[in-house]
Amino acid sequence: MNFDDLESILEIENECFKMPWTKDMFLSILSIPNSYSVVYEKYEIIGYGMTLLQMDVIHIANIAVGKGFRRQGIGGEILLYLLQFWMDLKKNKALLEVRPSNLPAISFYKKFGFCKVGIKEWYYPNGEDAIIMQRDL
Ligand SMILES: CC(C)(COP(=O)(O)OP(=O)(O)OC[C@H]1O[C@@H](n2cnc3c(N)ncnc32)[C@H](O)[C@@H]1OP(=O)(O)O)[C@@H](O)C(=O)NCCC(=O)NCCS
Repeated sequence: MNFDDLESILEIENECFKMPWTKDMFLSILSIPNSYSVVYEKYEIIGYGMTLLQMDVIHIANIAVGKGFRRQGIGGEILLYLLQFWMDLKKNKALLEVRPSNLPAISFYKKFGFCKVGIKEWYYPNGEDAIIMQRDL
């Protein structure tokens, strides 16, 4: 993922989320040295994923696939590609936060081996809790 990709990414982000990330949020993660982010491109950008390393644990900061391209394995490819990057650097744990209302994403993460390990109360700006999911790498 490069700074030049952000316009396309923001289009997908706005289509995917009720409370989308702003350009500055993407920029702040891209600027962190211990981060690794990718886009999935097929003629155009149709998906992306962002990860960062915090205290030796990989955080899945954001992942999305454009609405017209889902259930074709693209999200899985992005996720596994990101995890492999960190596995090659000998990192052994990944975690993420997800809204309890986001059943497709919960099902997606479960398929790739993530399990619920906790709750963060009032995590999201609208007061919704977050489910914390984790997996070993
Ligand atoms: C979550 C997301 C990235 C998945 O992308 P995707 O390309 O559709 O994922 P895949 O095709 O690789 O799906 C892999 C598996 O995840 C599960 N899954 C994905 N979407 C699902 C849905 N809508 N309902 C139930 N299970 C789902 C299935 O087990 C699926 O395997 P299957 O198609 O063989 O049944 C996509 O739905 C998305 O962009 N959602 C909006 C953004 C979002 O919520 N991101 C996560 C924020 S925490």
